[in-house]
Formats: sequence, structure tokens, C-alpha cells
Amino acid sequence: MTKNRFSDAECAAVYKAIYERRDMRHFLSDPIAPEILTRLLDAAHHAPSVGFMQPWRFIRISCPDLRQSIHGLVEQERLSTAQALNEREDEFMKLKVEGIMECPVVLVAALCGQRDQYIFGRRTLPEMDLASLSCAIQNMWLAARAEGLGLGWVSMFEPEALKNLLNMPEDSRPIAILCLGHVEQFYDKPMLEQQHWEDRKNLNTLLFENTWNTPCP
Ligand SMILES: Cc1cc2nc3c(=O)[nH]c(=O)nc-3n(C[C@H](O)[C@H](O)[C@H](O)COP(=O)(O)O)c2cc1C
Repeated sequence: MTKNRFSDAECAAVYKAIYERRDMRHFLSDPIAPEILTRLLDAAHHAPSVGFMQPWRFIRISCPDLRQSIHGLVEQERLSTAQALNEREDEFMKLKVEGIMECPVVLVAALCGQRDQYIFGRRTLPEMDLASLSCAIQNMWLAARAEGLGLGWVSMFEPEALKNLLNMPEDSRPIAILCLGHVEQFYDKPMLEQQHWEDRKNLNTLLFENTWNTPCP
């Protein structure tokens, strides 16, 4: 056995969380226990980050009016997205793309301000702050799945409008609206796959050897 490997059961649990994690848009209204929410946020906070900059900030939305306004922003962007999709507009409009008004907990995940002072690993790739926040969200997503909770990532909003709504600093950046909650059941495949929006690509078509587009044997 490889030194330092988890036990078979632990290893299986990690892969189970990976394969059974789903982006959820259907929620039950049951509350989330505070200690579970704390564990999820702490899981996020233990993500890797470029130069250990920990650029993530999470804003919990507890004010019902604010939640409603956030939902309004998403609805606006959903309509604009539909229009931009041209011939797939009707198909898109049938998809459920968020559960903001149903889920018990809404968090906005954002990049902090004053990120320019962090250049370790970002001099040529400044977007590594975003990559770091994405790692944090993925940690939370997997931990939530292990806890039996669903998480939905919503990116349909005008960032400047959301920033204003939440009184965020000019140089910060809202990245995701996260819907968290108990679910009746997890979709067994991505909902967009179930609804024939997109299929999972064949991994072999995404792997190259040495040079771009040279398939791996
Ligand atoms: C960066 C990012 C943004 C996303 N934004 C949305 C969104 O606005 N609305 C939505 O319904 N799903 C959103 N999703 C979820 C994807 O649709 C979902 O991950 C994908 O269909 C695969 O499904 P799965 O997560 O269940 O495996 C987002 C996912 C990511 C990673």
C-alpha cells in the first residue's frame, strides 16, 4: 500500500463525495444547524490559495429583503442570458438555474479588496485569486455533500449591482451566490445533463501528450 494513503474506506468516502456532489437548485426549507455551517465555512477556509493569500470572503444573507433583491438581480441576468442564447432561448428558460428563494442559507462568496499587493504566483496570472476562491467553494461543496447538504453555485448576476447592494469595497469582487440547504434527493447526474443541455465530455478527448491535440495513447 502507498505510504500515507488513507484507509480504503476513507479513500472511498473522498471519491464518493467527488462523484456524488451535484449543483443543486431544489431545496427543502429545513434550517441548517449552525455547527454544520461553521464546519462548511472552515472547510472552505482550508482550501489552497495562491501565495496563501486567502482572498475569500463570505457574506451571509440573513435579511429577507436583501435576499429578494439578490433574487431580482439573478432573474434580470437570467433573462439577458436567455436572449443572448438566441435559438436556445426557450430551452434555457425551462431550466431551473437557482434556488435562492427556497434554500435556508444564502452566502455570497467574494474576492477581497486590495489584491494587487499579492504578487506571489499572480504576477503573470492575476486571476489566480479567483482560482483560489474557486478551490474554497469546491471544498465547501464537497463537505456539504458529505454532510448530506446541497449547494448551488449561481453566477448569473451583474457584479457591480451586487457589490452595491452589499456595500462592498470598490476593489472587491462578488463571484458566487451560494445556495445551501437540505435536499429531498441529489440529482444522480448533473441537472444540465438530465435536461439534455450538455453531455459530459469523454475524458480521453481532453487529454494530450506533449503537444496540444496530440492524443494520449
Ligand atoms: C463557476 C460556476 C458557475 C456556475 N453558475 C451556475 C449558475 O449560475 N446557475 C446554475 O444553475 N448552475 C451554475 N453552475 C453549476 C453548473 O451548471 C454545474 O456545475 C454543471 O452543470 C455540472 O453539474 P454538477 O455540478 O451537478 O456536476 C455553476 C458552476 C460553476 C463551477
